[in-house]
Amino acid sequence: MSQPLITLDFLDKAPVADALPADVRVSAATRTGRARKLYIESYGCQMNFSDSEIVSSILADEGFDTTEDLAGADLVLLNTCSIREKAEQTVRMRLKQINSHKKRRPGMLVGVLGCMAERLKSKFLEEEKIVDLVVGPDAYRDLPQLISQVDGGQKAVNVLLSREETYADITPVRLNSNGITAFISIMRGCDNMCSFCVVPFTRGRERSRDAHSIVQEAADLVAAGYKEVTLLGQNVDSYKWASEDGTERVNFAQLLERVALISPELRVRFSTSHPKDITDEVLHTMARHENICKYIHLPAQSGNSRVLDLMNRTYDRPWYEERVQAIRRILGEDCAISTDMIAGFCSETEEEHQDSLSLIDFAQYDMGYNFFYSERPGTLAARKLEDDIPLETKKRRLQEIIDRQQLHARARYARMVGRVHKVLVENFSKRSQEHLSGRNSQNQVVIFPKGTFQKGDYVNVFVTSTTGGALLGEAV
Ligand code: SAH
Ligand code: SF4
Ligand code: F3S
Repeated sequence: MSQPLITLDFLDKAPVADALPADVRVSAATRTGRARKLYIESYGCQMNFSDSEIVSSILADEGFDTTEDLAGADLVLLNTCSIREKAEQTVRMRLKQINSHKKRRPGMLVGVLGCMAERLKSKFLEEEKIVDLVVGPDAYRDLPQLISQVDGGQKAVNVLLSREETYADITPVRLNSNGITAFISIMRGCDNMCSFCVVPFTRGRERSRDAHSIVQEAADLVAAGYKEVTLLGQNVDSYKWASEDGTERVNFAQLLERVALISPELRVRFSTSHPKDITDEVLHTMARHENICKYIHLPAQSGNSRVLDLMNRTYDRPWYEERVQAIRRILGEDCAISTDMIAGFCSETEEEHQDSLSLIDFAQYDMGYNFFYSERPGTLAARKLEDDIPLETKKRRLQEIIDRQQLHARARYARMVGRVHKVLVENFSKRSQEHLSGRNSQNQVVIFPKGTFQKGDYVNVFVTSTTGGALLGEAV
């Protein structure tokens, strides 16, 4: 599953009942006969999923196998998200369910990782008695030490943020992998201060990972049979790395090119692009390499310049529109673009909301990840602005954004009918073992009869129809 660096929208939809929301990832089992069983669940964005693979790697060295069986786990870790209030509520509900397992299995240790751990720090231990361990995103190397502290009967906390940590030398254990697509973190943290956003507080300062270690990780994946990598960062366009002696400098466009050159058989994706930073150099690099996928996640957040200013996004609407035009000019009409929009930000008027709708019309997004504003403690907006749009209004505006977005998504699917698409096969179709499912360069799902093809193949598919959410066709 390749999703942009977004939080999954079940957080704003699914009430947490007994079952897990569909998009929470539970780690698959690794069985090497190690002594203890680790159960790890990831919430939030792809960076968290990617971090869980690093955590699993660190703990594999400590004698932990991952398991899908919560009831039989020795150590239960929740890798948490703070982006909206709902995300945190989901985790708290989940801790209650885990508590009932812990009662049946005394000795089960429960740890909280990720952004909520970083935000709440040791307060977590006071608020949720079940929690033994609180570890922030830059402190995972300390897990073995913290676990032995907990084994000794104490509670343990490490939420120190770092200016250097990138886990560059740790080879992730690929969890839930289809063996075809993988994520590679290229940077951590964020130096932007969008007024609504908790990420700079939970993830710390922006830092870029050694370019050589990124290229090596991608090359290792290719050698292991992988066909697609997604380079991850909160703002990939501000990636910059220099060798210690300063003789080698690599920006994002150059990194992208290095990864693309590893093999023409390797597809390269990336997320997230920031409208203020995405350069023509990146767009030209994409145009030069067929294997860099023609899909850009370019979150607008709002279509109104005053609101964008309040959000501290540091671009205005004309700037954003110009970047969309640059994408169309350099990469053509086919390049897919997606967005994130926030409905009902502080003081947003009805007219300003209309501007978000008209920006959706302007950009004709292929996809949108849209949310209503949720105030986060400690952020600039929480301190300086009033969260004054009634919930009903936020929800209505959000629905209008979603509806408008869907019109364009359908149209973007429809215009792909009657053409041949190069599809990377990822799996069987969810509905039928006789059909395969993959994606085209634009990240659209394509389904076709399996014939003699299999997972990992590139197949040219002539698309004959669309469901509005997927393309259907035949191999040619
Ligand atoms: N770095 C990415 C965003 C990461 S957070 C970027 O700058 O685009 C993912 C998305 O969550 C954001 O794009 C935003 O649309 C949404 N989001 C962040 N904080 C939010 C909040 N307080 N309320 C509602 N949505 C929020
Ligand atoms: Fe948050 Fe803005 Fe950084 Fe994205 S760029 S993570 S929205 S502060
Ligand atoms: Fe990601 Fe959520 Fe943290 S979106 S960076 S896990 S707050």
